[in-house]
Amino acid sequence: MARIIALSDLHLSPTHGFFWENWRIARDFANRAGAEAIIVNGDLCINGPDSDAEMAFAATALGRLNGVVLALPGNHDVGDEPPGQDVRQIVDAERLARWTRAFGRDHFALEIGGWWLIGLDAQLFGSGLAEEAMQNRRLDEQLRGAGGRPVALFLHKPLFAEHPHEREATSATLQPVPRLELLARLARADVRLVVSGHLHQFRDRVIDGIRHLWLPAVAFRPTRPAGGDPRCGLAIIDFSDTGAKVQIEYPAGLVDHDLDAIKGHGRYRFLREMPPSPPPAELG
Ligand SMILES: [Fe+2]
Ligand SMILES: [Fe+2]
Repeated sequence: MARIIALSDLHLSPTHGFFWENWRIARDFANRAGAEAIIVNGDLCINGPDSDAEMAFAATALGRLNGVVLALPGNHDVGDEPPGQDVRQIVDAERLARWTRAFGRDHFALEIGGWWLIGLDAQLFGSGLAEEAMQNRRLDEQLRGAGGRPVALFLHKPLFAEHPHEREATSATLQPVPRLELLARLARADVRLVVSGHLHQFRDRVIDGIRHLWLPAVAFRPTRPAGGDPRCGLAIIDFSDTGAKVQIEYPAGLVDHDLDAIKGHGRYRFLREMPPSPPPAELG
């Protein structure tokens, strides 16, 4: 048996520190858990697509996690794939380069507990960027590299909400065409688990033979729950020959922040547009 901790949706910022205390609590919990690796499943920042300082701040924060840390980007880090929530923050080469400068890479593949864990940059799917084609080629190699082991896939956005054949374009999940292309790739290996963040709620369902695990957010609860548990938290996943055991933890002190209330019930559309509210100077 081998344990990982999965954290998602930290939404850290040196200027907008609403969720700093939640991060501190989740970080300390993760450091005490004795995990083989800590996976951070995207949305480390609030305004990462447009701020070097914010990306650097998140990288420094993650530097306080012990052991192997595997970070993947979300839409708040490198921008959305088109059409996206905000046309001003669509993923592009410069934004991807900012992530790479701060975190080194946006993907991983490694064996843990007899499983083959693959991490992807969800924001590339449907982007049309050269990096998308590169990721698809690498994914084919990584899936071959599984060599018959069960595969767990990690990426920021869920593949779909309810069913793979959903047709509408939405920034909540991957887009319909790249989703089906990805599923066709995954069918070539023994992919048993897909772990995503982004929707800020815990849900755990098997759909068409693959288990789709939605991680709770560290930072704030969802404005629109989609059938999941909206509480802030984190996941412990134990991988072994007999499967993947998931335990959701709600460490004491974690606050289920209400994003709508923080943004003044419509006064501000995006957190980054709000007046500065820095985290405490003592960042320990
Ligand atoms: Fe998020
Ligand atoms: Fe997100």
